[in-house]
Amino acid sequence: MIWIHEITKVFQGKETDVHAVNGVSLSIAKGEIYGIVGYSGAGKSTLVRCINFLEKPERGSIRVEGFGQIEARDGRLYYSGEGQEASVPVTEKHLKQLRQGIGMIFQHFNLMDRSTVFENVAYALKYSGMKKPGIRERVLELLDLVDLRDKVNAYPSELSGGQKQRVAIARALANHPQILLSDEATSALDPEATESILKLLKDLNQRLGLTIVLITHEMAVVKAICDRMAVMEKGRVVEEGSVYDVFSDPQQTITRHFVESASGLGNVHKLIESGSPLIGSSNGVLVKCIYGRESVGDALISEVSRRFGVNMNIVLANVELLQDSPLGGLIMTIAGRPEDVEAAIRYMRECKVKVEVIDNGRVAE
Ligand SMILES: Nc1ncnc2c1ncn2[C@@H]1O[C@H](COP(=O)(O)OP(=O)(O)OP(=O)(O)O)[C@@H](O)[C@H]1O
Ligand SMILES: [Mg+2]
Repeated sequence: MIWIHEITKVFQGKETDVHAVNGVSLSIAKGEIYGIVGYSGAGKSTLVRCINFLEKPERGSIRVEGFGQIEARDGRLYYSGEGQEASVPVTEKHLKQLRQGIGMIFQHFNLMDRSTVFENVAYALKYSGMKKPGIRERVLELLDLVDLRDKVNAYPSELSGGQKQRVAIARALANHPQILLSDEATSALDPEATESILKLLKDLNQRLGLTIVLITHEMAVVKAICDRMAVMEKGRVVEEGSVYDVFSDPQQTITRHFVESASGLGNVHKLIESGSPLIGSSNGVLVKCIYGRESVGDALISEVSRRFGVNMNIVLANVELLQDSPLGGLIMTIAGRPEDVEAAIRYMRECKVKVEVIDNGRVAE
C-alpha cells in the first residue's frame, strides 16, 4: 500500500552536505505495522517525513494505494494518478489529498496548550467542510476511540503524557486516514503509558485496518507490536524482514546490537566485563544458544548432557514468545573433555539450535 522507491534527501550544510536519506526503498503492506529502527541521526524521521512530503526529497518516489504517485526529480515533484504513466507538476491540492490519507503523531504530542482536548481534535476537521454539529459528533467519536471522552474539556496541561498522546492520536485519525506515521510516539512516556499507547495502536490497527509506520529507537516497541521492520544506519536501510526473522537471526552488527539490547542475554557481556563469579566459577566453554522456530527447547540440555557426558550450567536464560513463536535462548557453560564439548556443540547445532562460543568468556579447563 506504500511503496517507497529510492528516496534520497540531502540537507545542505555550511561545510558538508548531509545525506540524511540515501536511496531508500521499502514497501509497506496494507494493514501492517512496520517498524523502522536506528540510532539517532540514522535518517528515520527524515525518511518518514518524505512519505507525506513534509520533507521534500531530491530523488525517488512515493506511491500510495488509492492516491497515486509523487516522484521527485532533482528536487521537483511530479504527480501521476494510480496506474497512469503521465505526470504533472505537484500542486498544493495533490499534497493536501495525500496528507488527508496519512495521519502523523510525534514524540512531544504537538498539542495546542491554550486549547481544550475538544478544540485540539476539532482543529484537524477545520478544513473538512463539516458543519459544527458534525464536527462535534466526530470529535466525541474519536475521543471514545482513544478512551478519553471524560477529558473533552480538559487542557493539555491537565493531562498525563499518555493522555496527551491519545489526544494526538485522535487528532491524527480525524480525517479517516488509512495510514498513521508514528515518530517516536512513546519515547517521552514511562513504561506503563508506553504499553497502553502501543496497545491502543495495535487495537486501531486491527479495528480500523490502519497501516502504521512506526519509528523508534527502542527494540522493545518493535517487538511488542510490529509485523515487519527495517533497520536504518547512516541514511540507508541495512536490514529488513519480519520481526521474528530479524530478532532470531540478525545479520548486521548494528542489528545484533539492537537485538541484544532488547534481550536479557545481552547482559552476558556485563557479567564477563565485571568478572562475575556466575561465569568465572564454573569450568568450561561459555556458549550462547539461540532457539528458533524449529528448535526443541529445554529437553535438549539434559539429553546432550547425558549423551556426551558434559556438565551444562545455565548462566542466563531468556525465552519468550514473539509473533507466537518461541524466541530467545540460553547462555551456559559446557564443561568436560574438549572433544566431548565439541561433539555436544555439534549435536546441538544439528538440532537447529544456533550455538555461538563466546570466546573472551572461555574459562580454562
Ligand atoms: N532540517 C535539517 N537541516 C539539516 N540537517 C538535518 C535536518 N534534519 C535532519 N538533519 C540531519 O539529517 C540526519 C538524519 O536526521 P533524522 O532526524 O532523520 O534522524 P533520526 O534517525 O530521526 O534521529 P533521532 O533518532 O535522533 O530522531 C542527521 O544527521 C541530522 O542532523
Ligand atoms: Mg527522529
